Amino acid sequence: MPTDPTTPTAARPLRPATLAVTAGRPAHEPDNPLNTPITMASTYVAGGDTEYGRYGNPTWTAFEEALGRLEGGRCLAFSSGLAAVSTLLDLVGPGGKVVAPRHAYNGSILQVADLEARGRITTELVDVTDTDAVVKACVDAALVLVESPTNPALEIADIPAIVSAAHEAGAYVVVDNTFATPLLQQPLTQDADVVLHSATKFIAGHSDVLLGAVVTRDDELFDVLKKRRDMIGATPGTFETWLALRGLRTLHVRLERAQSNAQELVRRLTGHSALGEVRYPGFGAIISIVLADGAIAADLITRSTTLWVHATSLGSVESTFERRRRWKSEPATIPDGLVRMSVGIEDVDDLWDDLAGALDQLKAQPPGTL
Ligand SMILES: Cc1ncc(COP(=O)(O)O)c(C=O)c1O
Repeated sequence: MPTDPTTPTAARPLRPATLAVTAGRPAHEPDNPLNTPITMASTYVAGGDTEYGRYGNPTWTAFEEALGRLEGGRCLAFSSGLAAVSTLLDLVGPGGKVVAPRHAYNGSILQVADLEARGRITTELVDVTDTDAVVKACVDAALVLVESPTNPALEIADIPAIVSAAHEAGAYVVVDNTFATPLLQQPLTQDADVVLHSATKFIAGHSDVLLGAVVTRDDELFDVLKKRRDMIGATPGTFETWLALRGLRTLHVRLERAQSNAQELVRRLTGHSALGEVRYPGFGAIISIVLADGAIAADLITRSTTLWVHATSLGSVESTFERRRRWKSEPATIPDGLVRMSVGIEDVDDLWDDLAGALDQLKAQPPGTL
């Protein structure tokens, strides 16, 4: 098991960039490797704590230590973000109510809707920007799922106000922190019960891993979630946790560059005649633009670039974008012509030239074709 050489002391609390690089490494002892090795084992010699590969793995532990330290709690890795969502929704008893943002990641909403359709839970979808409405919805809730910023509308929730209303009702609050990452927002410091990550995105950061994670400060809840994860086998792949930990080592550097690229692109995109709207919450590396000429114009843009890759998902080193409503399950309240852009770490001028060229193509379209 890796021992973390970075255990904080009151005199020397480590900053996030240092934690990203150092947390979850083997102890500084002669001949120890600097990186936790990939332990490919399904079974362990009897008599210890692990016994079987579904209950633990030293490579998972290293990743969990690092992300847990960054979020300020105890972390559990899952096979994917949605496996973590499913395990969290399982906390809700029969007929219990789940409150969720109407514009949360569509896969999470599909799970909530499926449980409701099968009579397992009741749900209320809310506009997270309408704090009064969310607070009202929390009154009889069992679990409140918050996403801030939301995917792909980029709306911001008042997390402390929601946490306080939910806790009054005795409900758990889960904050999906995938877009902000622990470097820009730490929901556990705002009293949320659980932080959720699609570690597939910024945490791993290279479009080569599917992985999820939850982090909590509540030991009892941690035990319940671990038991459930291990019981249903929603456990991560060993290589995936190793890759994600390798990605996490550069999270701060990647995010700093991607965010500065995003801010510059927002500056250049704002007021562009082809765009009805540029949505950006002021931080992070995701921008949503709404094409003034709707879906056809948006589809044309996503086919007209050479650097920007037309692909789903986000949070990687390379810039990707997609029209979200191309997915039939995306809600109709997301504009048809909305393109979610995940800004990477390339040179911003190259990203701009590629994008501006695609936007210029719209002007060249014969009248009446858009
Ligand atoms: C905000 C958010 N949460 C959760 C998920 C689900 O994660 P995964 O794809 O790792 O299952 C996603 C995936 O796109 C996401 O964007």
